[in-house]
Amino acid sequence: MSLETSQSTQHRRHGSNAGQPLTRRDGVLKVTGRATYAADNHPEGMLYAVTAVSSIARGRVTALDVAAAKAHPGVVEVFTPANRPPLAHDPDEKMPPFGFRVEVLQNDGVRYVNQPIALVIAETLEAATEGAALLNPQYDIHSARTRLESGEPFALAAVGVGAPPRTVHGDIEAGLAAAARVTEAEYVTPSQYHNAMEPHAVVAEWDGDRVTLDMPNQALALSCASYAAYFGIPAENVLIRSPFLGGGFGSKAILNGPQILAILAARALKRPVKLALTRAQMYGPVGHRGQTWQKLRIGTDHDGRLTALHHHALCATSSFDEFMEPAANASLPLYASPAILAEHEGLRLDMGTPGPMRAPGEASGSAALEIAMDEAAGACGMDPLAFRLTNYAEIEPGTGRPFSSKALRECYVEGAKRFGWAGRPLAPRQMRDENGFLVGWGVGTAVFHCPHFPAEARATLRADGTALVETAGADMGQGAWTVLAQIAAEALGLDPDQVELHSGISSLPDGGIAGGSGHTASAGLALHNAGEDAIARLADLATTDPASPLFGAGNIGVVARSGRLHRRGDEDRSESYAEILARAGRTEVVGTAKAMRDPNVAAAHAMFSHGAVFAEVKIDPDLGQVRATRLVGAFAAGRVINPRLVRSQYFGGMIWGLSFALQEEAITDRRSGRIMNADLAEYHVPVNADVPSLDAILIPEDDAYVNPLGVKGVGEIGITGTVGAIANAIWHATGVRVRRFPIRIEDLV
Ligand code: MOS
Repeated sequence: MSLETSQSTQHRRHGSNAGQPLTRRDGVLKVTGRATYAADNHPEGMLYAVTAVSSIARGRVTALDVAAAKAHPGVVEVFTPANRPPLAHDPDEKMPPFGFRVEVLQNDGVRYVNQPIALVIAETLEAATEGAALLNPQYDIHSARTRLESGEPFALAAVGVGAPPRTVHGDIEAGLAAAARVTEAEYVTPSQYHNAMEPHAVVAEWDGDRVTLDMPNQALALSCASYAAYFGIPAENVLIRSPFLGGGFGSKAILNGPQILAILAARALKRPVKLALTRAQMYGPVGHRGQTWQKLRIGTDHDGRLTALHHHALCATSSFDEFMEPAANASLPLYASPAILAEHEGLRLDMGTPGPMRAPGEASGSAALEIAMDEAAGACGMDPLAFRLTNYAEIEPGTGRPFSSKALRECYVEGAKRFGWAGRPLAPRQMRDENGFLVGWGVGTAVFHCPHFPAEARATLRADGTALVETAGADMGQGAWTVLAQIAAEALGLDPDQVELHSGISSLPDGGIAGGSGHTASAGLALHNAGEDAIARLADLATTDPASPLFGAGNIGVVARSGRLHRRGDEDRSESYAEILARAGRTEVVGTAKAMRDPNVAAAHAMFSHGAVFAEVKIDPDLGQVRATRLVGAFAAGRVINPRLVRSQYFGGMIWGLSFALQEEAITDRRSGRIMNADLAEYHVPVNADVPSLDAILIPEDDAYVNPLGVKGVGEIGITGTVGAIANAIWHATGVRVRRFPIRIEDLV
């Protein structure tokens, strides 16, 4: 697939490609409506599938009026548990490494609201929708457990994606016993839903035992393997096209039942099938951020130093599967306590299985931790920033592995300076603005780990001296296409404009997972290595050719710059890529590479992005209405390839933090278990008027270990720190400590 992309020239600089604030390559396509999303595809002869979903949270479907649905004009087929064609993989079996149990009409059981209970396929979307409405399901209804208080805690094998549920360093009870003061409190975070702008969708078209899937997808190779297992075909028979994603946030990295059903229908009916979830149908089968109930105990000595940090998290999951927000693990890497205990228990509720959602674990965990740290600072009579500067870890607690630098200190110091933290009164309720609104300032520490996913790439230098670089990655809005091309251009000694990037289709070399804020580092390193491989092959052609001015220079005797190979130390002797290829009679030279993390380096060094977020809120003293008025974040995340896009990622994260602190919550009806605000009107997310002045400071950081590019993640860290900073600012404005999210007017009046 070839896509026309553009680059605003006013932002172009020559020389090093890294550091250029290029605008998004796909920006013009998106704002002019020429970017095609999955549901924009209409293959010849396509049918429409609509899921009928349960309106109860627990029980059984006892009757469906399939005859009425089938009699509706245009309806082609209705699949229910009675006639659903077989799958090659048991949907109640998890598929490692990233598998979930899915609902694909395997039986008549209902395990959550909005679970698919039938699939109606028709000639038109309207007919399929009407058909689904005619099914008139009857239920055997059991009482639903949807509140944290109604679940029974259970022990876990793992949290998040395979992380240990309990980690302890030192002796927590001894640390608490030795403390001069112990601060103890509980914190509750709600269910939140990804609500990507583009709903989950698929257009499936079979050709024999091969299938082409147009679908938004954050993990192409992994998904091909999983779909292949469900349909009993080789992974290479699954082609996923995902050129654009209207957001993902983790929910498009996992398989889900509705999409599998649509693919199954396409095979059974021998026609292409499209399915796009409605907004309401996204509140169930495609993951969410699970509720947490966290308890923290922090011990401090007379100097305000931590003696113990105990973080216990009770994390909700579904009745039939395990994904637990690894919330307590947020307390592991940040503060230098001689004793740290992070532990989790699960809680089964009659809801869809939670899944990874932007900063899974760190978001809700750091929300609780950062308020608890504020409370502990208060107990010591210390300024909350001074308390953090006293207690942040310079080496990774427990492991003793060095962090890359003292970048976190710089984040605190530079952020505080920009924000104007100095002179902040220690006591709450001391500041008012000119309108009499209560003003408060708060701080929170931001942290995010740096995963690396194995990735592969190909770089082709072409006869005209330009390059094509390829990796099956995902740009869900973060700017991957742009940044990955910049990285490749640098390795190839070209300007980004001379580099065409193909991505977003599974037939390309595996670009790894676009998740964990690790995509730029992972796919970027693969592209970098592929570019270097292509240059090495080109250099071979030139340096072994007596007709070349580079003859005999040897591979390390040449440098690639501005489309030419130069002789190192004698730079006037050079040749263009096009000249080298032409004389060698080649139309192209191809470099390939894989990129892994060196396990020895990973074992010896702690790898995190760091930051500090400062928040100002203003609160109407009579009405309790909260407005965040300023957010300043300072972040250190290694080498910055594109400051424009990095800043934009930080802003996005900070806005999500604001959303977490003040707005987001899926509200469940206690009687029916139904989600009452499963739409964008009543599920609150910030609009422009809610978003304060934002400032993100990019703290330079040189990390020689995280990967050869020195690149770290920037996508998720912005949420962490921000939530606590806002909650702490609210306390500072009002003197009211709120430990439940989102923070509402009624908490403050
Ligand atoms: Mo994310 S939750 O790593 O897409």
